[in-house]
Amino acid sequence: MANDEPRGAVHWIDHYVVGTNDMVAWADWALNATGITRRPIVGITTAARKKNVPIMCFLWWEGGSCRVGAFLQSEVYPPSKGLGKDTPRCGFYVRSDDIDLHLRRLDHHKIPHTDPIRTAAEGDEGTAIYFEDPDGNQYEFWAPVHMPEGAMEICTSEKVGRISHAVYGSRDLARTAVFFDKYCGLQPVNNPTIAEGMLVLRLRAGGRIVYKLVDRVDERVAGHGPWWDMHTALTVRENEFLPNYRRMWEGLPEEENAKEKLSESVEQQDALPARTGLHRSPVGYKWKEIYQRGDEFYDWDGHAFHFYGGIPLKEDGSLALYTPKEQEEYLRELAESLKNRART
Ligand SMILES: [Fe+2]
Repeated sequence: MANDEPRGAVHWIDHYVVGTNDMVAWADWALNATGITRRPIVGITTAARKKNVPIMCFLWWEGGSCRVGAFLQSEVYPPSKGLGKDTPRCGFYVRSDDIDLHLRRLDHHKIPHTDPIRTAAEGDEGTAIYFEDPDGNQYEFWAPVHMPEGAMEICTSEKVGRISHAVYGSRDLARTAVFFDKYCGLQPVNNPTIAEGMLVLRLRAGGRIVYKLVDRVDERVAGHGPWWDMHTALTVRENEFLPNYRRMWEGLPEEENAKEKLSESVEQQDALPARTGLHRSPVGYKWKEIYQRGDEFYDWDGHAFHFYGGIPLKEDGSLALYTPKEQEEYLRELAESLKNRART
């Protein structure tokens, strides 16, 4: 670990999850857009319906250290603000030599996209192609001038690399910057090419989190009802995972109840502070039960996140390439530490 690494720093985006109104169409789109391997859609058996299991699909890159996913929503989305215009947006690394290949594939599958756009407005210099899924969720192929190590080593059969960045709306960039500095070890990038009204946070191994100044909370975020489960998972070193949560649990309030039991208006939800809350996964429910705190956290603008542990694969100790550590393992460790505390 480098000496200058801030405590609990985020190294990559491990996964990015959207909402959809048509799960089969979304899964087909994801395969066509990225060349990723097909995986089962969860929740569509009768047994799963009897247990009320959410209908979802996760697709992952080789090694499992990067994933995209979707959850079926219980309401129909209003139209997005349009191709390349709405946030949140998720980018994927591609090589600049392969841009024509990606454009041909998007055209072949009739996936709406922009022409390649040369830009340095979001902190790095490169070429972007904006595209969208059938629900109007926004994505981008990002071909940077400088490709970070680990970005393309796990690419799909169609040469799409791991998640390069995510772009969100923020009503107060300074407040958002303080939040990510305190809890995620990330400081704003100072670069004269960054566009006005933009906050860029560079992750330790590669990738960025970008916030764009907006007047209103992004429509499609988990903290802004009636939407569910869309979130971003941030990779931290395996031994920083629990300390990061402990800092957060000390510093942030917990959402008063599970989201389905709250009856706040959208205006009330949008006025809530940054907070932790129940993560609606089997591990998340268990976590909350044994610890009374949730392992999901929200920024000041309703975007949901959780941490993911990463174990370095390279001898230099960097997380350029890593093996993910499943949340079940941390849950077991947490339960064990609580038991030991009770005994003493
Ligand atoms: Fe997740």
